[in-house]
Amino acid sequence: MTDERLAAPEEFLDDQEIEGSLRPRSLDAFTGQSLLREQLSIFIQAARRRREPLDHVLLAGPPGLGKTTLANIIAAEMGVHIVTTSGPALERKADMAAILTNLEDGDVLFIDEIHRLNRAIEEILYPAMEDFEIDIVIGQGPSARTIRLDLPRFTLIGATTRSGLITTPLRDRFGFSHRLDYYTVEELAGIISRSAGILDVATEPEASYELALRSRGTPRIANRLLKRVRDFAQVRHQGRITLDVAREALHLFQVDDEGLDRVDREILSLILEKFDGGPVGLSTLAVAIGEEPDTIEDVYEPYLLQRGFLKRTPRGRVLTRLGYEHCGAVPPPGPATLFT
Ligand SMILES: Nc1ncnc2c1ncn2[C@@H]1O[C@H](COP(=O)(O)OP(=O)(O)O)[C@@H](O)[C@H]1O
Ligand SMILES: [Mg+2]
Repeated sequence: MTDERLAAPEEFLDDQEIEGSLRPRSLDAFTGQSLLREQLSIFIQAARRRREPLDHVLLAGPPGLGKTTLANIIAAEMGVHIVTTSGPALERKADMAAILTNLEDGDVLFIDEIHRLNRAIEEILYPAMEDFEIDIVIGQGPSARTIRLDLPRFTLIGATTRSGLITTPLRDRFGFSHRLDYYTVEELAGIISRSAGILDVATEPEASYELALRSRGTPRIANRLLKRVRDFAQVRHQGRITLDVAREALHLFQVDDEGLDRVDREILSLILEKFDGGPVGLSTLAVAIGEEPDTIEDVYEPYLLQRGFLKRTPRGRVLTRLGYEHCGAVPPPGPATLFT
């Protein structure tokens, strides 16, 4: 299967398969997040030496920073199977119970978007994580009875874009938790060069750096930009990604100097034009943009906040001085504190 894939002409690989092929498979191949990498490496080596399963791990952070990748790497480094599911996919308690009872000793259970587990299912996880047992109810009505089942000693890895929504009892049961940070431009340039090598597309270092500058600190975006620029280079040029080719392509795809895309800019300009720079509430903003409030909060806002284009206040989102400037507007005179 793997051989077939590698041999298949590139045109037959869709983006998802390419994303899979770009995913680092070992901690060494994983770029950036150096503190997390060092901690995990010690944590994994210690567990391996003791021949024990790894303690439960919680990974938090915005989309595209490598949570799923890391979960797979952890399982690979531990030499165990990984079973993957997600919070919204688990609808009934029985689904969770079936997954748990089918695990083998040492297996990793990866639950993506774990903040979206429903409460009843989450409660099954408490004794499962702590004592490796679950209670299941057999039968109905007056004849129903509860039996306790022992589970294999598994490792739960949870990923979340919203660590604030994880309940305290769940959070407390993770032995290790970490929040992933946005990547530096240098780290992203390294990731882009590596991906370009895997995709076999000649890319000048200056071009990798230019793409890195516009990747919003996010490896997934870096890889996506690389793929689009590669298309452009193939169709309009001889396939080689030079700095000029990269710039031309980014212009065509409307990615600006700060890496903001159309929706990012729409958010800023809407706050500026419709709401006089804010404050505007999240739900009002979401309606104006035509996106879900969750999407704005999880996907778009974190980077705009981190770069200081936007600020959260108790009364809503406001544009900062930088935000005004990015929209080509002059910030209003007023208390300087609003803009710091
Ligand atoms: N540290 C990294 N080094 C190299 N590539 C990475 C790294 N982190 C993420 N990626 C790439 O970005 C893509 C998205 O990562 P993923 O783990 O799916 O993010 P998340 O689960 O946090 O949304 C992956 O396919 C992988 O190719
Ligand atoms: Mg993921």
